[in-house]
Formats: sequence, structure tokens, C-alpha cells
Amino acid sequence: MIKQNSNKYLRPAYLEIDLKALASNLKNIKKRLGEKVELLAVVKADAYGHGAYEVSRITLKSGADSLGVAILEEGIELREKGIKAPIQILYPESLGREKKIAKYNLQPVVIDYDFAFNINRESAKKKKITEIFLKIDTGMRRYGLEPAEALDFFGKIKKLKNLKVKGVLSQFSSTEEEDRGFAEYQLSLFKSTIEQLEEENGNRLKRSIANSGAVLEIPQSYFDQVRVGILLYGLYPFPRTIEKVKVHPVMSLKSKLLQIREVPEGTSVGYGRGYYTRRKTRIGTIPVGYADGYPRILSNKGEVLIKGKKAPIIGRVCMDAFMVDLTDIPEVKTGEEVILLGRQGKESIDAEKLGEWSQSLNYEIITRMGKRLPRIYV
Ligand SMILES: Cc1ncc(COP(=O)(O)O)c(C=O)c1O
Repeated sequence: MIKQNSNKYLRPAYLEIDLKALASNLKNIKKRLGEKVELLAVVKADAYGHGAYEVSRITLKSGADSLGVAILEEGIELREKGIKAPIQILYPESLGREKKIAKYNLQPVVIDYDFAFNINRESAKKKKITEIFLKIDTGMRRYGLEPAEALDFFGKIKKLKNLKVKGVLSQFSSTEEEDRGFAEYQLSLFKSTIEQLEEENGNRLKRSIANSGAVLEIPQSYFDQVRVGILLYGLYPFPRTIEKVKVHPVMSLKSKLLQIREVPEGTSVGYGRGYYTRRKTRIGTIPVGYADGYPRILSNKGEVLIKGKKAPIIGRVCMDAFMVDLTDIPEVKTGEEVILLGRQGKESIDAEKLGEWSQSLNYEIITRMGKRLPRIYV
């Protein structure tokens, strides 16, 4: 990822990451959780596009207890940059990658005996104990042990002396449904499975099932640890929940107008001549394209903000640029600031809006922001 904290040579297209908003979001989420619930900040996928190291640093400073990544390499990156806090790998890793998990003190989820055996062996070589989490599938049908096989599996794992089963994870498949039936079923399966394991274990295991949706909708699922992603970044997993915890978007995408030209009515614009002007038109070009993660599906559909006004995209979004119609904002000049995601004056274009325009969702919009966009931390 390109990091540029000096504005001197800044590419005129960058992500502004508001660290104050991040810290305040975390505090507001913690207020809802209360003192006793641990907060794991989900920083996988480069902290949903915001920059994993910076987000980890600020969230830990503001009261997060641990971090969650999806893959080994994300954990290694954080360790190599000096992060000491517990890091859970939330998704099962494949065989062959055990050595580095032990080396970097990462806490993997385990669903496979051979994998556990190998981590135990690597940990023994290093004379250490690796903490692991069991992942139980209570209904998501993605990854995990079947609840019915969990007890047996746990019995085998317990014999591996260089492993410590720290807790049990599961994942809700739907927290947005108004009908809570399935979430409640998952919750009760999760509880009954853990109770069996605890009986076998002799003491408590850390229970972790809640994500942002559950933080907002299912307080009885908080248990010992919640794993918060989208809410930390100031977005809501679904619109209905907006009043429950106040958070503010952390990411904005900003650029500048690189060129402005006036063309007559009937002029074709862009690849495939995908748009024809319907009047004398002032075209502005913005140096951001789909290679930066700006969705091509916004061609002839999306809008940007310039001088607090909306300018529609005309023609197809190219790999490195796209064009907008500036005719109704005659006062703008080359170099004018353009907001692609974020707020300007009274208007805003949020990740939900970009998600809706592109038949996707806010999660995908922010996590797909390109590596070549500098992240500017403010
Ligand atoms: C295992 C796991 N836990 C927690 C989260 C956080 O979810 P959210 O961003 O909805 O809070 C995710 C995200 O996909 C996840 O995969």
C-alpha cells in the first residue's frame, strides 16, 4: 500500500482516513457493550481497506482488547510492524502454514485435527503453548466443526500438550432478519455445544459469536468477546440499526479535477462512445478508475460532489479516470476538489449509496479500494 503523509507530491486521488472518527466509534461501541465484554477489532482485508497497521494501533490505544485477521499474512504484517496484542486468525488456515502461526504467536481457529497436530509440533519445537479457538458451524454453512462432533474433537485436541483451547467461535448467518428465529436457533446451539465442552474442560472457554449486526440487534449474544468490523469503520451492517450506536464514516475518497473542456451537443464521451451529450456540455475528468476500486458499474449512473453539488458521471468509467458533467456547476475550475465518497458541504455520498448504485454493499465498496490510492491519516 502507498502511504503518503506529506501532501507535497500527493497523487490527486487518495483515501482520507479519519482516525478521530475511528477512536470515537470504538468508544461508542464499547459504551453499548459495557465493561465486561472484550472487543476484538476486525482488521482483516487491510482493516476493510483503511490500513491494518494504523487502524490496529489506534483501536488498541482506544480500548480494543485484541485483533482479528482472516489469513496468516495479515497477522505476520501486524507482528512485523510491532503489534503485540493478541491476534486471532478468524478463518481456518490450510496445512503447511502452521510453522509461522506458532512463530508469530497468532491464535488460529481450528477445525482439523492434522492442522492442530502440526501446530502442536511446531509449538513444542519452540517450547511454547499456542492458544487456539475452535470454530463451530451453528448454521452459516461456511466453515466449522459440526456441533455434534465438537466434543469428540475437543477430547482429541486436549491431548496435544502445546496447545491451549482458549475459546469457541461461531458466526451468525443473519442478524438483519426481523424474524430472529434462525439467529436464536444458532445462539442456543452455540450455548449448548460450549456447555458440553466446558464440562469436559473443567473450566470456562471464551465465547465469541457476535459481529456488528449482533452488537446492534442481539445483546444476549455478547458473551465474553464480540468481533466488530463494519461498525468500527463508521458504517452500519443494515440501515435499520442506525439509531442504536452512533458512528461516523472513517473513510473518504477524494480527488481533483484534472481537465475541463466544453463540447457541443451530440458529442460522444469515453470508451465505446457510451454517452452522447444532450446539450453543450462542460466535461470534467477525474483521475480515478476501476483499477483504484471505483466500480465500473457506476458508468452513466454514479455522481460525485464538487463545490457541494452533485455532478453526474457521463460515459464509462475507465481503468484510471472517468468523466463527469459540470455544465450545471459553471464556477468550477481545474484542480477543484472532488468527493467520490464522503461529505462536502451539506451533501454526502456514502458507502451505502455507492453500494446501492453498484448492486453491492458498503462492505465491498470500502474493502475493494485500490492499493495504489494513498491512505492519508488525519
Ligand atoms: C469471523 C468473522 N467475525 C467477525 C466479522 C465482523 O463482521 P462485521 O464487519 O459485520 O462486524 C467478520 C466479517 O466478515 C467475520 O468473518
